[in-house]
Amino acid sequence: MSPIAPDAVLASLHHLLVFSLVAVLFAELALASAAPDAGRLRQLGALDGAYGMLSMAVVAAGFTRAVYGAKGWVYYAHNEVFWAKIGVFVVIGLLSAVPTVRLIRWRKRGVVPEVAAMRALRRWMLAEAVLIALIPVLAALMARGIGY
Ligand code: HEM
Repeated sequence: MSPIAPDAVLASLHHLLVFSLVAVLFAELALASAAPDAGRLRQLGALDGAYGMLSMAVVAAGFTRAVYGAKGWVYYAHNEVFWAKIGVFVVIGLLSAVPTVRLIRWRKRGVVPEVAAMRALRRWMLAEAVLIALIPVLAALMARGIGY
């Protein structure tokens, strides 16, 4: 097997997970824009769980790629743009904790939130969506040696 093959597998996995993550985030945004009811809250909770799992899978696939990919860990460890990309992803993770905690709290208490509370929740997700758009830009730069 060519040494490029494992790198291509890791790259494909990384891309598929990232696309899925973004798709789930936008599905959450769409659900959170309608008036809340118990069914919608349940769906949002399920999507939010999937979002958390996908985030962890993206981190795992990303670091596996950084360590075992064609360029090797040293290339990324010394690349500022790589660390900026990780930093943005960490901030997104912190932002995502707010909707997660609220959704869990509402479901535990059996509460259907007011429209205004749902709008506030959606704003956190919107902030995540804005920041996530920066990541492919940083990724494209780091992949081409910028920041090294
Ligand atoms: C902890 C999380 C992550 C890690 C460790 C990570 C790591 C990596 C690595 C090592 C590469 C290979 C770059 C190269 O070819 O030299 C890469 C590429 C890429 N990553 Fe990530 N990544 C993470 C999260 C994300 C996220 C959340 C996104 C998008 C929202 C993303 C989008 C991309 C894209 C688009 C590329 C391809 C860049 C190109 O070849 O032009 N990554 N990532």
